[in-house]
Amino acid sequence: MTEIARGLEGIYVTETKLCRIDGQKGELVYSGYDIYELAEQSTFEEVCFLLWNGRLPTKAEYDDLIEHMRRERPLSPLNNRLLHEMVGFVRPMRTLEIAVTVVGALDRNSSDLSPAALQEQATRLAARMPTVIAAFHRIRQGKEVVAPRDDLNHAANFLWMLRGSEPTPLEVEVMNAALILHAEHEMNASTFAAFVTASTQSDMYSAIASAIGTLKGPLHGGANDAVFKTLEAIGTEDNIPSYVDALMERGERIMGIGHRIYKTTDPRAIILERLGAELAKTAPDAKYYHLSQKLRDYLAKKLEGRPLYPNVDFFSASVYKMLGIPNDLYTPIFAMARIAGWTAHLMEQYANNRLVRPNALYEGAENRPYVPIEKRG
Ligand code: COA
Repeated sequence: MTEIARGLEGIYVTETKLCRIDGQKGELVYSGYDIYELAEQSTFEEVCFLLWNGRLPTKAEYDDLIEHMRRERPLSPLNNRLLHEMVGFVRPMRTLEIAVTVVGALDRNSSDLSPAALQEQATRLAARMPTVIAAFHRIRQGKEVVAPRDDLNHAANFLWMLRGSEPTPLEVEVMNAALILHAEHEMNASTFAAFVTASTQSDMYSAIASAIGTLKGPLHGGANDAVFKTLEAIGTEDNIPSYVDALMERGERIMGIGHRIYKTTDPRAIILERLGAELAKTAPDAKYYHLSQKLRDYLAKKLEGRPLYPNVDFFSASVYKMLGIPNDLYTPIFAMARIAGWTAHLMEQYANNRLVRPNALYEGAENRPYVPIEKRG
């Protein structure tokens, strides 16, 4: 009998040197480096280099990448114009998808799949996406677009361009760690979408547009926004039991909980909770962070014995809130971090590609006589 691998659970579609997850132990490792160590000690730029090259950079290589990203940060005039046109009726994730397509359209070497060209394209996308998100937000607020600064790192630049004020060192540390935590995660749904697109030898930009469209869904990257909406709907600690109980009675899912791979707490949620605790000491709006902790405690009792624990999105929502970021940008921020992993997987894949073409088991009708339309009842 033909077995259907619904959701492709347990199916390996390729080998990778990028990321290892142990969902039972709650381990996440990028190219041999533990996520706890990277989140504490590294920068997002360094993690990009690691994923794209399989090793950490020397100082000179790191400086080169920083310089390269600086050059690639500014928006093209076309993207700037489009952002102004789209504001008000195109939502942030769609805006990002379109902007990435425009970046590809303007790259004359977009179909060059050589390792050097792919590094170039990946650097461009990683540098450009934060600028797009920040500019989109400024324009919709009726504010001036803020240009990137050469003296700020990637995380600091994003907060600077978004808010128009210089972030504190703690805010930069948290943003940087959040980007590292979201940078890569093995063969998840959006990475697989990019993988399928690239398997036809379509270019990196189209593959990334596919990934962005896939990340958007609430079962994947869209969950962080959905977590925020849950927290907003709960409002105060007293409402947690009635809200959760009613939701579960309706058979609905609690956003930010559960994972296909992790059957314990996602290590990224642990790190984000710790970072959130630091921010909460001084953030003007730590209400949702504290509410998240209470919700987590209630759910731990409610879901006891079931393998359902907080995932990365559970605490990212309230952490981003404390950074002064509006909730509809949480998923775009996920994308601007995951660009590192998406592009790294594409580099691995283009070097050893095979067309992805699975099967579907046909269960429809057979041997039906064709009746012309004028004779159909
Ligand atoms: N809340 C309540 N129950 C949940 C749940 C959640 N968030 N996630 C899974 N479950 C339950 C399912 O109802 C199912 O129960 P059953 O066996 O009694 O029918 C069981 O757990 C297994 O769920 P399944 O849908 O097969 O797991 P999956 O591996 O396909 O789902 C997710 C993984 C992430 C899609 C799922 O956990 C989910 O929807 N989580 C919420 C969205 C989210 O936070 N996504 C971000 C992931 S990083």
